[in-house]
Amino acid sequence: MKNTVITFQQAKEKGEKLTMLTAYDYSTAKLEDEAGVNSILVGDSLGNVMLGYEDTIRVTMEDMIHHGAAVSRGVKNAMVIVDMPFMSYQTSVYDAVVNAGRLMKEAYADAVKLEGGTEVKEQIRAIVDAGIPVCAHIGLTPQSIHAFGGFRVQGKSEEAAKKIILDAQAVEEAGAFAVVIEGVPKKLADLITKKLRIPTIGIGAGNGCDGQVLVYQDLLGMFSDFTPKFVKRYANVGEVMKEAFQNYIKEVGSGAFPSKEHEYQIDDDIIEKLY
Ligand code: KIV
Repeated sequence: MKNTVITFQQAKEKGEKLTMLTAYDYSTAKLEDEAGVNSILVGDSLGNVMLGYEDTIRVTMEDMIHHGAAVSRGVKNAMVIVDMPFMSYQTSVYDAVVNAGRLMKEAYADAVKLEGGTEVKEQIRAIVDAGIPVCAHIGLTPQSIHAFGGFRVQGKSEEAAKKIILDAQAVEEAGAFAVVIEGVPKKLADLITKKLRIPTIGIGAGNGCDGQVLVYQDLLGMFSDFTPKFVKRYANVGEVMKEAFQNYIKEVGSGAFPSKEHEYQIDDDIIEKLY
């Protein structure tokens, strides 16, 4: 069954945990969908894990559309949420609606996600009014990394914690159907989860949120440039891939690959005529 905003709301009401994973291509999205994840996030983290940038600032609308459309083609049941990249919504409410619309029309998104709280509530309201579901994202929001002075846990002081609670309430009030809470103390995320009617999706926010999200390369052990404390590795796929690549290189070198079973045949009397 297709996951929708109703699935998200019902999960919160029933106390059932929601699952979200990132994907950036058709094959991975298909596997995650078949595994039964509730939603697939085409995160702007693709700047780091797919394009090799140091941060998400350089990711463009075209990047998000290209990867979003590939993911959507692989998905039947999960809700596909596509990230709005840096400067595609901060500049004005008009830009926010136009760019959210492009992600729906050109990346076949089911919903969009954008970063920020009180300061983007008008954008969220306008996008929702245009009939597009919005997932908000508060706490350690990577597009503001330069303003934070690096990847730092947010909301540790009383003042900072109050600001994040106000952000959570503002995005709910503006009409977001869910909110990702990233990089905040568990007890603060627990409190926000209790205060909100919409589901909270945690990443580096403890297990009290209504759901969890992870970057799939982190979960599979495929990305070693930077591994945050909150990541759990469920497999060592990076090592398995490297070993397979090394075996391929070795077998091509020795002539062991391709072997008879990988060849196409032609009748000998035909080939003899060609010499
Ligand atoms: O871009 C992304 O992958 C994200 C998640 C880490 C929540 O925003």
